[in-house]
Amino acid sequence: MLYFIIYVTMKVIINGKTFIIPKGIRFGEFSHEIEKAGIEFGCTDGQCGVCIARVVKGLECLKEPSEVEEETLWRTGAVDEEERLTCQLIVEREDCEEIVIESED
Ligand code: FES
Repeated sequence: MLYFIIYVTMKVIINGKTFIIPKGIRFGEFSHEIEKAGIEFGCTDGQCGVCIARVVKGLECLKEPSEVEEETLWRTGAVDEEERLTCQLIVEREDCEEIVIESED
């Protein structure tokens, strides 16, 4: 028997660079690629807070922040709902045209 795994993907534009990211996989898994768009990563597990960026489009298609992410955002003074830890982002819904993320630098 032959099985095929089909990934649902989302177009994600980070600082103007386009990535195709599978639904359900944490962006931290792609940190080495996403770094090329100018997002800095440290721990990639939601603790250090260096990967904070602003989701300017498509926030509704991302999974809600976990308790760990919310705590780190709070600790680093990120107060806007659009401010998220890039490493913790997960595409949850595919009904957005695209997701656009910009870092503050
Ligand atoms: S890299 Fe540490 S919180 Fe994202």
